[in-house]
Amino acid sequence: MGGEAGTPPVRLWGGRFESGPADALARLSVSVQFDWRLARYDLLASGAHARVLHRAGLLDDTELARLLAALDELSRDCQTGAFRPSAADEDVHTALERGLLERVGSLGGKLRAGRSRNDQVATDLRLYLRDHARQVASRLAELQTALMDQAERHLADRTPVAGLTHTQHAQPVLLAHQLLAHVQAFARDAARLRDWDKRAAVCPLGSGALAGSSLPLDPEAVAAELGFDGPAANSMDAVADRDFAAEFCFAAALTGVHLSRLGEEIVLWTTHEFGWAEIDDAYATGSSIMPQKKNADVAEIARGKAGRLIGGLTGLLSMLKGLPLTYDRDLQEDKEPVFDAVDTLLLVLPAMAGLVSSMRFHAARLAAGAAAGHALATDVAELLVRRGVPFREAHEAVGHLVVWCQVNDCELDEVGDDDLVKISPHLTPEVRSVLSVDGAIAARDRVGGTAPDRVAEQLAALRATVQGDAAWAAG
Ligand code: ARG
Repeated sequence: MGGEAGTPPVRLWGGRFESGPADALARLSVSVQFDWRLARYDLLASGAHARVLHRAGLLDDTELARLLAALDELSRDCQTGAFRPSAADEDVHTALERGLLERVGSLGGKLRAGRSRNDQVATDLRLYLRDHARQVASRLAELQTALMDQAERHLADRTPVAGLTHTQHAQPVLLAHQLLAHVQAFARDAARLRDWDKRAAVCPLGSGALAGSSLPLDPEAVAAELGFDGPAANSMDAVADRDFAAEFCFAAALTGVHLSRLGEEIVLWTTHEFGWAEIDDAYATGSSIMPQKKNADVAEIARGKAGRLIGGLTGLLSMLKGLPLTYDRDLQEDKEPVFDAVDTLLLVLPAMAGLVSSMRFHAARLAAGAAAGHALATDVAELLVRRGVPFREAHEAVGHLVVWCQVNDCELDEVGDDDLVKISPHLTPEVRSVLSVDGAIAARDRVGGTAPDRVAEQLAALRATVQGDAAWAAG
């Protein structure tokens, strides 16, 4: 913590107590080492509160001017590091109150009127998170753009890839389609943040400790000044509610899960066995002992970080469970998981964006393997269905064909006419007409399918969505 203060640490309840706190209590109680990052928001809220006290006639013009100037100065000093919390400050609120008292003397104490740390901390955390949700959304849009740029490149080349279920070859798809599947998930993450923001846009200030204030404050004006949609409708709910923190942690954890899936795919794609893609040197790591190694650590760390995001969410929910109304000190534990979620995503998202945009796919190898594992068998079955064969029978006939190919070590389109009818009377020579990767991909041309035109439409729609989300995040 920073340099020692000129004034003693602020004790908010000095009048009632004969002795100071025990060291063990003080050490347990202190949160300034992690809540100091709320300082900027606490100062903003203090400015709004000062103006409301002035309008209520509780501060005169000179007092307001002096307080606002001191808050400005304190804000600058916090930015430059000239003012820092001291080892004796309990939390961000008491540290800043000390800073204010150092600058304007006892006038600083007037700001406490009509306000409690309970409504203050709930307001600060909402302000912090609404701000940082936008930063996360910006980084999400950059990752989505990296994925969409790769998709666009490979859509132009119609690069096919073996689509997998159970990590086994299933049906060929366009590589672009698979990349856009990840973009869709991240688009829901961005939409979730935007939707979350509507519920987070409620201002607790004016709720005081829990019951509201008898002073003629103006919660609507404070809410508007701080960019909220309005004041809280219930002061007790306002100081106790941490839904916004839990919901944010859920949104972050699910984004983490999506990142871990992409990370896992990249790990697989870049193995010798898959050989689908290569990581750029700038995003790969080597081994201290094995000179040949090129590892996908970015993807692995992304995969691993999902664990801590999920842990933060479950820790927060467990802390909230069973708390009685209204404010309980347990709630001080709300901040670290939330801050950690923000920090984690702001670290992982840019690294993943760089990894994805610089990755090179081996298009020829992807195309060569796209139909491996008799991945066009479904196309034969669906051809039979179009001819009126019940799917159950078609499935069985093609199943026999696959077994025949396995026994004779050949591909589906290498079976001769005579053998085809022997395997099943449904299998006429025309079945070979559907046995091409391009044909199979082009045939899936309904909405959501992997046909090039549908994927192009999907890409265009996603570009528009991501642009909208990025504009929200920047606004
Ligand atoms: N540091 C506290 C927290 O984060 C601020 C609120 C303290 N309120 C109280 N009644 N002790 O929750």
